[in-house]
Amino acid sequence: MLLEGKTIVVTGGNSGIGEQICLAAAAEGANIVIDYVAHPEATDSLIHRIEEAGGHAVGVDADITSASDLHAMVQKAVDAFGSLDVLVNNAGIEDRKSLLEETEEGYDKVMAVNMKSAFFGTQAAAKQFIAQGNGGLVLNISSVHEDWPMPGNLAYCVSKGGMRMLARSGGVELGPHGVRIVNIAPGAVDTPINTATTSDPDKLRQLDDAIPLGRPAKPHEIAEVVVFLASGKAAYMTSTTVTIDGGISQGSVGL
Ligand SMILES: NC(=O)c1ccc[n+]([C@@H]2O[C@H](COP(=O)([O-])OP(=O)(O)OC[C@H]3O[C@@H](n4cnc5c(N)ncnc54)[C@H](O)[C@@H]3O)[C@@H](O)[C@H]2O)c1
Repeated sequence: MLLEGKTIVVTGGNSGIGEQICLAAAAEGANIVIDYVAHPEATDSLIHRIEEAGGHAVGVDADITSASDLHAMVQKAVDAFGSLDVLVNNAGIEDRKSLLEETEEGYDKVMAVNMKSAFFGTQAAAKQFIAQGNGGLVLNISSVHEDWPMPGNLAYCVSKGGMRMLARSGGVELGPHGVRIVNIAPGAVDTPINTATTSDPDKLRQLDDAIPLGRPAKPHEIAEVVVFLASGKAAYMTSTTVTIDGGISQGSVGL
């Protein structure tokens, strides 16, 4: 198995992409720590599914907008499974507003959930990795919008752009400790964050038309790449981004 005995923390792990990462990593032998702030029943059900399949998982109720919660989350992972190998900074939100419409409150919330959490989560994990003395890996679920403009979703784009530089600069700083940072940049994925689009047939058709592969990704298609990146097969990767977008960010208008 690709992740036998590794301990992986997934923030926002009880829904969407995070849930599929937990299931896919558990199926490859990893010990799973599911961070969540909402829907404890979804966490319980996920733990049950993982354990029924012979895996190991615990839930941690931690608000990742708090640096102290993030440090406590890492400690709970170590208490549960003895060490930490991979942190997946997955939790994220959108606040679909333009630069001119965005409020201070909306901006602060998006930046705290997406960017601040990834920054201080990486810090907490890196301190643990350095103390363990054996390197470690941070995977950030960013977005094609770490680089690709999306008018009407400005705070989100800015937060994901910050995650891009977190991987670039942080990876360079931490490389000498054997600590790596890799971003995963999905395009459109069929999860609750996109319900407004996927539940509207006209919007969904427009989206399908914009994607060279003709459809959004299923969340497990992101999770399978996460498993590969978390395995020993991707051990030389750091300070970079892997894009999984069905070609949407290379799309052109065929006029
Ligand atoms: N779905 C897409 O099209 C898409 C595309 C690109 C990137 N992404 C990114 O993928 C990640 C996962 O999103 P998803 O699509 O699975 O949506 P989702 O809404 O299912 O997952 C987001 C998770 O983050 C959690 N969360 C929010 N605030 C939190 C907090 N303060 N503390 C802890 N957890 C918190 C939510 O409870 C939820 O479980 C996000 O970072 C998102 O930006 C999604």
